[in-house]
Amino acid sequence: NAKIMKGIILSGGKGTRLSPVTDATSKQLLPVFDKPLIYYPISTLISLQISEILIISWPQMIPLFRSLFGDGSHLGLKIQYAIQDDPRGIAEALIIGEDFIGNDNVALILGDNIFISDALDSSITNSFDEGATIFTVKVNDPERYGVVKFSEKKIEDIVEKPKLYLSNQAVTGLYLYDHNCVQFAKSLKPSQRGEIEITDLNKIYLNNNNLNAINLGENASWMDAGTFNSLLEASNLIHTLQKRHGRLFGSPEIASLQANFINQDQLKHNLSKKPKNSYYKKILSHINPNV
Ligand code: G1P
Repeated sequence: NAKIMKGIILSGGKGTRLSPVTDATSKQLLPVFDKPLIYYPISTLISLQISEILIISWPQMIPLFRSLFGDGSHLGLKIQYAIQDDPRGIAEALIIGEDFIGNDNVALILGDNIFISDALDSSITNSFDEGATIFTVKVNDPERYGVVKFSEKKIEDIVEKPKLYLSNQAVTGLYLYDHNCVQFAKSLKPSQRGEIEITDLNKIYLNNNNLNAINLGENASWMDAGTFNSLLEASNLIHTLQKRHGRLFGSPEIASLQANFINQDQLKHNLSKKPKNSYYKKILSHINPNV
């Protein structure tokens, strides 16, 4: 039985860095230009050809995500929901997702991470067999992230928010794991900030010689939109990119069409219930009029 790759979106956290904007809603529902923030990571999972998705959030927010996506069937997805009632770390998402993951592989993505990269497609999922894969991007402020040090293309070390300069390769919020990740996550001890750290999980794979890194390259854009500034910058970036390329970035409808999770007729049917604003008009323009 071939293993499939499932997807988990961790959409937890109380977004205190964005209060008062997040006092009555979830960070991942805030707009990034013309769509909610969570549209970007879900589109990334769909581009990776992942259709079984677990969204994890804190209890009050589950109904909001449910009203946004339902069971996902209109997008050809199977979406389930689970609760993280206290932010006990990114790695906890894998423990919460234990039954969902079962014996399959899993892609974990953070609900506030925006990836603009053509490299993230089904070839990545298809070539994943076992172990763990992380994705890196060159940044100017590595002290804010998990950081990887390479020697001769091999991962030498990975450090969470290094105070001393290690390298400029940040670990992004997208991770592929085999099902062993659940047991490994359970073995982790909380860090000083009281969380079980995804970096500590990745270090287990590194020590087992089973951690692989894919650099997303100079053409990729990656942002975590967790602060006032980064949220505005993300909106501006998406606005600029969409205008320049004349297409949408981070649209689950289009990602599902391209992944063949839905066909043009299903998409047309979905759109018939939607307003004809610029977001939905842009989606319409992706539908081939001759089909
Ligand atoms: C987390 C991870 C970090 C990663 C970052 C990406 O940081 O711990 O390794 O680089 O997400 O967004 P946090 O946002 O929890 O500070």
